[in-house]
Amino acid sequence: MNAPLVLGIETSCDETGAGLVRGRRLLADAVASSVAEHARFGGVVPEVASRAHLEAMVPAVDRALATAGARLADVDAIAVTAGPGLSGALLVGVCAAKAYALALGKPLYGVNHLAAHIAVDQLEHGPLPAPVIALLVSGGHSSLLLVPDLATAVVPLGATIDDAAGEAFDKVARLLGLPFPGGPPIDAAARSGNPAAAAFPRGKYRDQTFDFSFSGLKTSVARWVEARRQAGIAVSVPDVAASFQEAVADVLTRKAVDACRAHGVGHLVIGGGVAANSRLRALAEERCTAAGLRLRVPRPGLCTDNGAMVAALGAELLARDVPPSQLDFAADSALPVTSITVP
Ligand code: KG4
Ligand code: ZN
Repeated sequence: MNAPLVLGIETSCDETGAGLVRGRRLLADAVASSVAEHARFGGVVPEVASRAHLEAMVPAVDRALATAGARLADVDAIAVTAGPGLSGALLVGVCAAKAYALALGKPLYGVNHLAAHIAVDQLEHGPLPAPVIALLVSGGHSSLLLVPDLATAVVPLGATIDDAAGEAFDKVARLLGLPFPGGPPIDAAARSGNPAAAAFPRGKYRDQTFDFSFSGLKTSVARWVEARRQAGIAVSVPDVAASFQEAVADVLTRKAVDACRAHGVGHLVIGGGVAANSRLRALAEERCTAAGLRLRVPRPGLCTDNGAMVAALGAELLARDVPPSQLDFAADSALPVTSITVP
């Protein structure tokens, strides 16, 4: 028998995502981004994002259905990001998902965006081992999690005490005159740069916690660049990008490997937009191999926000007989990572 068809809806930030998943098979992943509308502000403008979601929501679902060769009536369950994220943006997806669920008479799961970033890996690499350590690095979050069971239990081990890793990429890109969001252009510039050109600080590197800090690194990059500009010394953007990226990748991978060792866990999974970073992926692979750990990272296109990740988590919840959400649940911009679904 065919596994149930799950529609996933994602609108927590600036991507309107509609994904279709059957079991662990990805059938469609339609994403519309409003990033171009935010670029000149150097960051996501919540009201602009909400309006863009409103326009892109139904077309994205229709596109996903067309790609999958499915009709709305074929959908067996719906999952939607209930949080964390921008309130107004979340609201658009949650309202759309409720309308689809009500009209179709199908179960609805309000799910955690962060757990979905982990679940998406199952579409590419099969069932996640349990337990697994997850390094979650996005524009809004940087966390290390112990995941005994993706459907029912996520245990936070540590998180950033200031900026998220993606936020640091975005801020450093801005001071280097690179476009928003900063991750991809820094990643690209760093390819021709020298990662040892500047010794930028690794916050909380040896503090024995699983917390991160990126605000000192960002300030240090700003001072380094400013000092050279004032002295009339040319600043090599590739060198700064490579040195900054090295500092981020170094501290993230070191702590992730430490977390695996400390908890006796043999598998690491990395998720979130920053997991698309080429240096982070390479260094994680290198260090996991050296430590005898198995690494899983979804392909870059599934690391950044999308609807397929939400569908992937919904499919897992459905397969595990987790009860769906009540239709009157509210979007929660500060949904804690421990709440995998909302009641
Ligand atoms: O997960 P995501 O798409 O949205 C949030 O949930 O925040 O992550 C977006 C973040 C942005 O800060 C962006 O600069 C970063 O992911 N990002 C990258 C790369 N691609 C996206 N950071 C570093 N290297 C990349 N290649
Ligand atoms: Zn995200």
